[in-house]
Amino acid sequence: MNLNILVLPGDGIGTEVTGEAVRVLRRVAEKWNHQLKLTEGLLGGIAIHKTGTPFPKETEQIATQVDATLLGAVGLPEFDEAPPHLRPERGLLGIRKAMGVYANLRPVRTYKALIHSSPLKNELIEGTDMIIVRELTGGIYYGTPRGISGEGAEERAVNTMVYTRPEIERVARMAFQLARGRRKKVTSVDKSNVLENSQLWRKVVIEIAREYPDVELDHLLVDNCAMQLVLNPRRFDVVLTENMFGDILSDEGAVLAGSIGMLPSASIGDKKPSGAWTGLYEPVHGSAPDIAGQSKANPLGAIGSVAAMLDYSFGLKEESEAVNRAIEMVLSIGRVTADLKPSGAPATTVEVGDAIVAAI
Ligand code: IPM
Ligand code: MN
Repeated sequence: MNLNILVLPGDGIGTEVTGEAVRVLRRVAEKWNHQLKLTEGLLGGIAIHKTGTPFPKETEQIATQVDATLLGAVGLPEFDEAPPHLRPERGLLGIRKAMGVYANLRPVRTYKALIHSSPLKNELIEGTDMIIVRELTGGIYYGTPRGISGEGAEERAVNTMVYTRPEIERVARMAFQLARGRRKKVTSVDKSNVLENSQLWRKVVIEIAREYPDVELDHLLVDNCAMQLVLNPRRFDVVLTENMFGDILSDEGAVLAGSIGMLPSASIGDKKPSGAWTGLYEPVHGSAPDIAGQSKANPLGAIGSVAAMLDYSFGLKEESEAVNRAIEMVLSIGRVTADLKPSGAPATTVEVGDAIVAAI
């Protein structure tokens, strides 16, 4: 099979973890005889440095042509004071929108070998296995009007949380479909006791649920959900929520599983004529400039994102499972980075990559 992939290493540890993810792709291509075509592109802070914009036109053009895109992380402290259109994060928001990847899937599961790394008591966390479906191309991240105006006591800032019915419908269907392949339970998260936006969200989700009578639906307010995630994480199967709530809850979910460095994500849009999903694959963690360049970063979130790509965008189940098995293997022998609190000396980013490649 031809695997035509755009690689956007991005900033900070993004380049390091992406390097290992690419080695894993090469290993898979070699073992299963796939033709790998990798194109490297610019996104985020590095793109601002090299081209003056966080989301260069060339990156946009390639991203809409390739089969799938692999992304590291974006964000650099030197842009902290920059205006919004000149921040690395704007590149990420731009590519998500341009690719139309409206559903961000963030699986949170515990691995036996990592139970001790979770901040929660073992008996609470054991057996947790959920997937957060975060709406990714709407809501307050993109709504207009937005901006800062006025001066002195008149200075004000506005953002707009807006969802249309079709935006809610399509991401809800994605969640219900996923639930059918799992424990058949969707928990929709909103703030409908305060926000009209959430009232529409809840109403539309209830309507879509009628198309899936075999799937159970319940609703949680987002503040309660944040609490239930630490009180009773096993109660969740598929968590469906809007963009910003999903951003916040998925960091909380990530740390339940031991470390945010572990969490992969797949951002999925519509199906292409070939039957493959349009997909952007990235670890949930950020660019972590404080540890960049030291080979300390955990590459397993990025490598897990490769597994997700092989599955969703290429339908290569066997290859995807082999990568996931290699991750479990490497965890069980304790060949892990410092964030996972290994009993001996922590492995470097590259050593974890070596162990994964060897295990495939
Ligand atoms: C994420 C990140 C991004 C987001 C930032 C970097 C814009 O936190 O992917 O979760 O908020 O979506
Ligand atoms: Mn986030």
